[in-house]
Amino acid sequence: MKQIKTDVIIIGAGLAGIYTALNIDSQKRVDIIVKESLIVTNSNLAQGGIAGELDFIQENIDAHIDDTLKAGSFLNNKEAVKVLVTEASENINKLMNFKVDFDRDEYGEILLTKEGGHSTRRILHIGGDSTGKDIMKALKKECFTRENIHIHENMMALELLHRDNSCFGVSCLNNGTETIEFIAQNTILATGGIGNIYGSTTNSAIATSDGIGMAYRANIKLEGLEFIQFHPTAFHNEFSKSRFKFLISEAIRGEGAYLLNSEGERFMKKYSPLLELAPRDTVSQAIYREMYDTWTDHVYLDTRHLGEKYLKNRFPTIYNHLKTENIVMGKDLIPVSPVQHFNIGGIKVDLNGQTSMNSLYANGECASNGVHGANRLASNSLLECIVFGNRIANDINNKKSHKIDFEGHIEQYHSYKYNYKPIKKKLGTTMDEYVGIVRTKEGLLFAKKIVLKMKKNLNKYPNNSKAYYEALNMVQTALIIIDSALNRKESIGCHYRIN
Ligand code: SIN
Repeated sequence: MKQIKTDVIIIGAGLAGIYTALNIDSQKRVDIIVKESLIVTNSNLAQGGIAGELDFIQENIDAHIDDTLKAGSFLNNKEAVKVLVTEASENINKLMNFKVDFDRDEYGEILLTKEGGHSTRRILHIGGDSTGKDIMKALKKECFTRENIHIHENMMALELLHRDNSCFGVSCLNNGTETIEFIAQNTILATGGIGNIYGSTTNSAIATSDGIGMAYRANIKLEGLEFIQFHPTAFHNEFSKSRFKFLISEAIRGEGAYLLNSEGERFMKKYSPLLELAPRDTVSQAIYREMYDTWTDHVYLDTRHLGEKYLKNRFPTIYNHLKTENIVMGKDLIPVSPVQHFNIGGIKVDLNGQTSMNSLYANGECASNGVHGANRLASNSLLECIVFGNRIANDINNKKSHKIDFEGHIEQYHSYKYNYKPIKKKLGTTMDEYVGIVRTKEGLLFAKKIVLKMKKNLNKYPNNSKAYYEALNMVQTALIIIDSALNRKESIGCHYRIN
């Protein structure tokens, strides 16, 4: 079996992986593995922007900390929030050094927008609404100039290699056929989200919770998996059968758009004095209530008072997408509904991204450092990737290399010719129905029964394929989400229980 020895192996090439790689000492070899192509990541889809106070005015820093804590229902790790906010400026400036070009006005001043839960304008953006895509473009370009960074596409991570609670790398499937082991001094999980566990999500198709699945099988500590964030405004196309739902950025509400129910009523006044700019959990729960009360499966985003010309210029990606759906922003109402968007909990890490296993780090959506509490403040996630990615890189840079004494092995399973699509589909409908915005004990127990059966079947017929491991990661994570949701009996943040 092929083995590659390296200083750092990073699993995932979204912002959490790539930014960390760029901050690792150029003397160290870094390998990044990505299960499809470099362009398929959740980071690429981020529209609204990246939150951050660029000056060092204490009042502004305190306000960002305060907004993050309030949005998270104060369940956040306060130390982590302080780190996130105070190290924003240093890391956003680093992005600019990597030629990330934020939108500016005619005087060269950076333009800032607002989203739900923010008391002020502090969100930087690019191309109006293509922030993630443009950040990733600049960083990938930078990566290609670095001789120490090696990128491997179509490389599916299977299992962490570990012994005595120390990690030695990861086993992988290259191009669906060849098994490879990366033996590494340091391993970083940056595998992104879990969206495809649900039947409707804003996440890309690669978001199948691979990092959390691998961590679970290696007995690594996880936390907060009951906190699944539903974005209030995904585009609602009643004819679409796709799991992927197009995001209509919260920044549009930040620029003044309203939400209307099917009766044409601006309903948010019934739920929060912050109206459409209440934190995301409040808005999603309010929409759910309105849909329930009016027997519909969507509400509307009203942008008509903002004007087509302004919207076309400010939100070109969304404007052009809606055009393909025969909707003109600024003229037509936009049908929207809440769908799964972000996983708040995950692999438990400390302030340097260190997991409960030695030499194993986690960053980004698969990790949980406590910054988001019970509900993430909008646009804090790209910030989290860079602040904690920088900390992980510093921690690794300060470590001495050690001799690795590890003989890995990959279990050779039978190759059963199974189709995992039906499991994935059933998992999606089960999670949407019983583990969504509103949860009940009966619903959670019913979902658990269905998902346990799936897990049993998967365990019975193990398979060395990408599709098998994706299904396994999704089903194992779904069970952890259900158990966590059953254990947390009170409603808080985006975990809402009615019994
Ligand atoms: C959005 O643009 O609405 C999404 C931003 C985020 O999830 O933070």
